Amino acid sequence: MSGSKPLKRTPQKSTGLHIGDASPGVKKVDPILVADHVSRKFGGLVAVDVEHVEIPRGAITALIGPNGAGKTTLFNLLTGFDKPDTGTWSFSGKDLAGVPAHKVAKMGQVRTFQLTKALGLLTVLENMKLGAKDQTGESLFQSIFPFLWKKQEAEIEERALEILERFKLLKLKDDFAASLSGGQRKLLEMARALMTKPTLVMLDEPMAGVNPALTESLLEHILDLKTEGMTVLFVEHDMHMVRHIADWVIVMAEGRIIAEGPPEDVMKDEAVVDAYLGSHQDVDLGVVTGRITLPKGEK
Ligand SMILES: Nc1ncnc2c1ncn2[C@@H]1O[C@H](COP(=O)(O)OP(=O)(O)OP(=O)(O)O)[C@@H](O)[C@H]1O
Ligand SMILES: [Mg+2]
Repeated sequence: MSGSKPLKRTPQKSTGLHIGDASPGVKKVDPILVADHVSRKFGGLVAVDVEHVEIPRGAITALIGPNGAGKTTLFNLLTGFDKPDTGTWSFSGKDLAGVPAHKVAKMGQVRTFQLTKALGLLTVLENMKLGAKDQTGESLFQSIFPFLWKKQEAEIEERALEILERFKLLKLKDDFAASLSGGQRKLLEMARALMTKPTLVMLDEPMAGVNPALTESLLEHILDLKTEGMTVLFVEHDMHMVRHIADWVIVMAEGRIIAEGPPEDVMKDEAVVDAYLGSHQDVDLGVVTGRITLPKGEK
């Protein structure tokens, strides 16, 4: 997508998500995820040090911040892919600290990776089936009664084909994931995450490396998740995207949350502009990525 081209869809923004002033750690009216004192050090480096954060349910929240701010590390901690030094957090009221990644996913909180993890030597359809919640043959009970898992297997395949069709990947179902383009792999990863019927979808830079032809459709898919009642938390560097689809923005810098609020407010915040741009405080953040062209005379 080029900066000057308007996006087709004007998303319905969710408002009234927070209680009181929009400052870091602000309470939400209906949080799906609540984290306290979550910290992670690597050697002497404090990668994450989040005192309190709440993610609003049913909305699209963008997690932004400069490279190395700790966004991916926070994702890893909250989804059980890494262990924090301190902290507790809960998802839909259930304590998640110490719960391993596969169980977190089963509970309805799924994530995708900044570097896609689609398995190249499996086909697109096989990748999808691997993402399914109740893997067949998982229990002894199922292995004693094969008709049960056969039925489940058929259901999984049906769901996989349905989602692939929606993501326009159906014709590629028998291709190896390795043969897909970077953007198609991003789509596959998002599609696969939906196999578990999640309630919270966490996307780590879903648009990164995606060619412009697929960007708009990825964006549409993210908006669709919200329309279907899911909560989305996504990491993105492109401020134009963030402004367009996010209902709420959380800003990290050096491991901490430095600002929160609706996109239009956050992007004006001095601390945020500072974190991104150093001294160029009068420059619109969208310009950073080169995807926004400003009218003449403005900077
Ligand atoms: N496994 C690791 N071992 C050592 N240091 C790490 C590890 N993972 C992350 N870090 C460091 O922790 C800090 C936060 O990294 P993280 O990947 O979470 O940042 P990020 O906000 O996702 O950045 P980007 O926007 O570039 O993806 C960085 O300084 C990074 O070098
Ligand atoms: Mg990252």
